[in-house]
Amino acid sequence: MYRNLICGVDEKIPLKDGSLVTAINFDNAATTPPLKAVLQEIIDFSPWYSSIHRGTGYKSRLSSELYENSRNLILDFVKGGKENVVIYVKNTTEAINKLSFRLCDGVKKCVILSTDMEHHSNDIPWRDKYIVDYISINDKGSLSLEDLEKKLIYYNGSVKLVTVTGASNVTGIINPIYKIAILCHKYKTKILVDGAQLVPHHTINMGEISSPEHIDFLAFSAHKMYAPFGIGVLIGPKEVFMKGNPDFAGGGTVNIVTHDFISWNDPPEKEEAGSPNVIGVAALATSIRTLKKIGLDNISNYEEYLTYYTLNKLKEIPDILVYGDVPYNKRVGIIPFNILGIPHYITSQILSDEGGISIRNGCFCAQPYVQKLLKIPSEATKDFIENSSLPRPGMLRLSFGFYNEIYEIDKLISLLVKITINKNKYVNMYTH
Ligand SMILES: Cc1ncc(COP(=O)(O)O)c(C=O)c1O
Repeated sequence: MYRNLICGVDEKIPLKDGSLVTAINFDNAATTPPLKAVLQEIIDFSPWYSSIHRGTGYKSRLSSELYENSRNLILDFVKGGKENVVIYVKNTTEAINKLSFRLCDGVKKCVILSTDMEHHSNDIPWRDKYIVDYISINDKGSLSLEDLEKKLIYYNGSVKLVTVTGASNVTGIINPIYKIAILCHKYKTKILVDGAQLVPHHTINMGEISSPEHIDFLAFSAHKMYAPFGIGVLIGPKEVFMKGNPDFAGGGTVNIVTHDFISWNDPPEKEEAGSPNVIGVAALATSIRTLKKIGLDNISNYEEYLTYYTLNKLKEIPDILVYGDVPYNKRVGIIPFNILGIPHYITSQILSDEGGISIRNGCFCAQPYVQKLLKIPSEATKDFIENSSLPRPGMLRLSFGFYNEIYEIDKLISLLVKITINKNKYVNMYTH
């Protein structure tokens, strides 16, 4: 529907037999191709690009304006309250790492509640600085709000933050972030939403601080929203970043410096050490304008339709196992599955070699979640730890963008049917 907005969708790629086909990309949860409007903005803005903040030239002023005004555009896009600051970072991973330095005084005594369904980027950064506990999931892969409340009561006021993904990068499940926020605030803690998979696909409303369902912190990456130029954001209350030292120090972070004295700038400058990614900001701002023009509701409705269509088609193929049992309208356009009897890495290789179809396989940087969905006993995990050459368990993941089309899904489905019918032939062919 919006295919012509995206760069590269008509590129031909070679199959294993040397023939050329138009590439199909169902790996949008990993990263998205750029919008043409974003590329055009970079071309249009480049002649005006200059140093920001401290430059006095005309171009410097223009670049500084773009950089600063984009913070308002971003905050408005996620309906964040005025108390918040928008900090530019590289990506969601950097945003979460940055926040992880901010919530405690370095003594490992505060508790962070993460969940069983997080991307490693919303799990590992917390581990060395806090006591981390994980909110459990049910057998369908969804988060247990009962367990969240139980843990909030158990830790009795020492939970500094509940950190939860807005939508899972494995199952696509959309978490009830506003309900989670209400629980967090009831028990006097805060919530961080990892918006990497949610923000590009759904409206999100951080809300006013006075509302019990407001989101305290939000992180997301522009490369997952059609602007892959090295920018992301962390949004949160300014006062949280006023205290203490920044995680990275250097140019731009300071107000006054002598050899024995530093006074830090106020956030966001304090949190953005070094020369910033102004072109990246221009790209993100254009992506946001384009997504708004298309309409986030149109995007989610269309991607829901792609998901609904695909889930129904997959159900008709024997030996296909779909993980994470949630209806199409409670998830973003992500579908994890396997063909029984064929290792995930072989199926994904066949799809690429014989159909020019890119998907992802493995554990998608969410190993604990995938281990649970695959019901892998902990003894088996120990085997992988001890012997890193063992073939790893995993899944296949389809993930849609708003530019994908039904005819692309039909091509995938007919190849999957062919694979399931000729399982032995393919396994032999692809087992070296
Ligand atoms: C849910 C989730 N969180 C965090 C990340 C990390 O994002 P980035 O690689 O842009 O830092 C990803 C990336 O796939 C993700 O899917």
